[in-house]
Amino acid sequence: MTSSSPSAFGLHDQVVLVTGAGSGIGQAAAVAFADAGARVALAGRRLEYLEETRKLMPDPDDALVLRCDVDREADVAALVDAVAERFGRLDAAFNNAGTFGRFGPLHEDDDENFDLVVGTNLRGLWRCMRHQVARMLESGGGSIVNCASVAAHLGHAKSPLYSATKHAVIGLSKSAALQYAGSGIRVNVVSPGSTDTGMLRSLYESADALEARSHRAPLKRLGTPAEVANAAVWLASPLSGYVTGQTLLVDGGVTAGSS
Ligand SMILES: NC(=O)c1ccc[n+]([C@@H]2O[C@H](COP(=O)([O-])OP(=O)(O)OC[C@H]3O[C@@H](n4cnc5c(N)ncnc54)[C@H](OP(=O)(O)O)[C@@H]3O)[C@@H](O)[C@H]2O)c1
Repeated sequence: MTSSSPSAFGLHDQVVLVTGAGSGIGQAAAVAFADAGARVALAGRRLEYLEETRKLMPDPDDALVLRCDVDREADVAALVDAVAERFGRLDAAFNNAGTFGRFGPLHEDDDENFDLVVGTNLRGLWRCMRHQVARMLESGGGSIVNCASVAAHLGHAKSPLYSATKHAVIGLSKSAALQYAGSGIRVNVVSPGSTDTGMLRSLYESADALEARSHRAPLKRLGTPAEVANAAVWLASPLSGYVTGQTLLVDGGVTAGSS
């Protein structure tokens, strides 16, 4: 996204909440929304990371930085209240916070990993949506974009739980899209493929292994956080006004078929 035409997406002065905004895709999205003219609230657990994102914004003083664990009901309620208190409304949200959890065989998995992965990727996102929808209903509508993954469309050999939660994000999003279409609230999903972020890099012990991974995509490279962010901005914006209950894959062609 460039800052050359901030009104092109129809997001000027729109209020947008981004979770997981301190790094990776969420950071790129927060900056992209701000470049498109939106007023942005940045949420995550580590304030120092969110402050780094704030520094990248075109108007850092306008950004709202809020500590929030998406799997804590009180945090999420306070987050959405704080956004409304500061900006007067909530027009759009990008529910991006997520975790891979611990990879490994299903029979060696445990409740701790279940609570982390399901608690973040599904219950946390569900908590965010509930509070966001309630606020949007008061103001007559809005647009929610949820972050899934190619693992929402294919199995994931290293983490059945991660894949299961990301499949669930799509079911939740489609169902909410149906429930709230008549209330002016759209709900869509962006599904990234392998994207060059700290989360992805933490899975590979060497640059060579990461490079090999990148060549699995038909486009023969990793995605950038900005490329996923741009898709989220479009889905959140009025430009996609007739799109709801849909998933946009930003995966370099991985799910297009075998090549
Ligand atoms: N990178 C990829 O290849 C890839 C592929 C498919 C899908 N995705 C999805 O893309 C999203 C962003 O991932 P990323 O690659 O950008 O990784 P990342 O840089 O690690 O970002 C994840 C963000 O989520 C936040 N977060 C995690 N748990 C949280 C919680 N309980 N409450 C609030 N915030 C929480 C983290 O911040 P704090 O720790 O400070 O809270 C962090 O900023 C995730 O949903 C991920 O599943 C990524």
